[in-house]
Amino acid sequence: MPTPSAPTQDELKALVGQAALQYVVPGQIVGVGTGSTVNKFIDALATMKDQIPGAVSSSEASTARLKALGIPVLDSSEVEEISVYIDGADEIDPRGCMIKGGGAALTREKIVAAQSRRFVCIADESKLVDALGAFPLPVEIIPMSAQRIVRQFAALGGQASLRMKDGSPLVTDNGQHILDVTGLRIGDPLAFESAVNQWPGVVTVGVFAHQKAAVCLLGTANGVRTLSFD
Ligand code: 5RP
Repeated sequence: MPTPSAPTQDELKALVGQAALQYVVPGQIVGVGTGSTVNKFIDALATMKDQIPGAVSSSEASTARLKALGIPVLDSSEVEEISVYIDGADEIDPRGCMIKGGGAALTREKIVAAQSRRFVCIADESKLVDALGAFPLPVEIIPMSAQRIVRQFAALGGQASLRMKDGSPLVTDNGQHILDVTGLRIGDPLAFESAVNQWPGVVTVGVFAHQKAAVCLLGTANGVRTLSFD
């Protein structure tokens, strides 16, 4: 009998996207993140769209996908507390702290996460790391502050570069730019997030320690592994 081949990364994303449905509370609004893993979750969410009043979305891209599947999208300012926020991550550490923003949606992601009682992270197992920092850290900035923030990261040993798209600086859903910072090892994510958020011109740093995950559903070759951080 042929041995089954290892699941692809895409299959692992679909697995955790489907598994996240168990955290959606019928009758309640769900917070929805951004990215290829969340896209699998949105597709799965369509199967229970009649059980929820709608979603609060963290990006124009997720809003478009939700609407295309017939899931109502509410503005975050119309909603008080959200029971659960489901989103992916670029890295997640053993305490549930994350790097996010690979899809440039970090600011709205942090806003919706802060509005939610519980963050459920969905990711394939390649995202689990011992310490944050190998993935280039996204930082959303006000464009006029770029040079100074590049120098501030250099003083910490980081190399920051402006994210480009089609030959021009990428413009976020909020009309701002993104720096991606390599060369950092973030030993104390809470302190790092607090410090960088104070730098003038920083809109949002892509460390999610104050808004860390409560649960992570990790897609592995052996199925979904659940990590709890409460
Ligand atoms: C977008 C994000 C995403 O959650 C993160 O980049 C992971 O994306 P993917 O599921 O495509 O790997 O933070 O800003």
